[in-house]
Amino acid sequence: MNNTATNCYILAIESSCDDTAAAVLNNEKVLSNVVATQEIHEQYGGVVPELASRAHQQNIVPVVTAALRKANIDKNELNAIAFTSGPGLLGSLLVGTSFAKSFALGLNIPLIDVNHMQAHILAHFIEEEGFEKPSFPFIALTISGGHTQIVRVDSYFTMSVIGETIDDAVGEAFDKSAKLLGLPYPGGPLIDQWATKGNPKAFPFTKPKVDGLNFSFSGLKTQIMYFIQKNVQKDSSFIENHKADICASIQYTIVNIILDKVKKAVKETGITQIAIGGGVSANKGIRNALKQAEKNYGWKTFLPKFEYTTDNAAMIGIVGYLKYKNELKDKTQYKDTGIHAQSRLKL
Ligand code: KG4
Ligand code: ZN
Repeated sequence: MNNTATNCYILAIESSCDDTAAAVLNNEKVLSNVVATQEIHEQYGGVVPELASRAHQQNIVPVVTAALRKANIDKNELNAIAFTSGPGLLGSLLVGTSFAKSFALGLNIPLIDVNHMQAHILAHFIEEEGFEKPSFPFIALTISGGHTQIVRVDSYFTMSVIGETIDDAVGEAFDKSAKLLGLPYPGGPLIDQWATKGNPKAFPFTKPKVDGLNFSFSGLKTQIMYFIQKNVQKDSSFIENHKADICASIQYTIVNIILDKVKKAVKETGITQIAIGGGVSANKGIRNALKQAEKNYGWKTFLPKFEYTTDNAAMIGIVGYLKYKNELKDKTQYKDTGIHAQSRLKL
């Protein structure tokens, strides 16, 4: 067994929602990053928790096996196992957690619990050619199907949420709007694709008025629903004939809602380094707006590599490594509850 902190191999497991993922990291470098996406949910227009846990049960062993094989690492070379402890769907989390616990127990190596949202942020510390790491402090914008948060990041393990959604997450706003347009789940990436061909100012939608750094997306969803109903009543081909313009207008509104809040966060904190994470950070509109903000406002923005935006285990592995390197005292002993840097994390 390789026990040197200077050359550490970590197996990471992520199963918080509908992706079964495993990765192997050598320190900050990703050796393999395997994701099995559960297509079964598409026909239901959203994630069905019971089906997600069953699919995780089927996928977990092949996914872990593939991650070890791709990394060319034997299980006996692993120094620790990191897993997502939450937040997420309970049944889904239990599959990854039980597997990670049993594997760590069998190999007699440490088990490290990782907060999923912290991982979306710390994915920026994965060693990747052509990708710069932010320095502390920075503002992280975590935008996914389950979360929308603005986080002040003062160190790897000192983070505080300074703004969040009071209702739907931004990914939900994308997915629910897509559903209204008859697009399959998850519709976020499809709205993004259609938006490139449309006019963002074709259909103006109003932005919600929410105090401080918090967000709200449920009103926008209702507004879009009434807009579509009204126009389809007049012209049954309205969606088909205007899909690109509708998608571009929805995306434009969502991007502006987000950008307004980030501007406010910069003003309140004086921090001009902005890093984004979570599935919605793959969105081209958001990426372009942030790049533009570098020129317009002098910010420095950090956009993760695409494979680290949606749920993946590499991001769990980097947190596992950072915890292992910074916190773990006894490297040979199995610890059931992992190491609790999370007690200092205000997420
Ligand atoms: O982080 P993630 O994989 O899972 C959660 O933790 O929720 O995020 C999934 C979300 C979905 O709502 C999906 O529609 C959205 O990310 N998404 C996008 C794009 N790619 C993924 N939304 C807008 N534009 C995209 N390109
Ligand atoms: Zn996520």
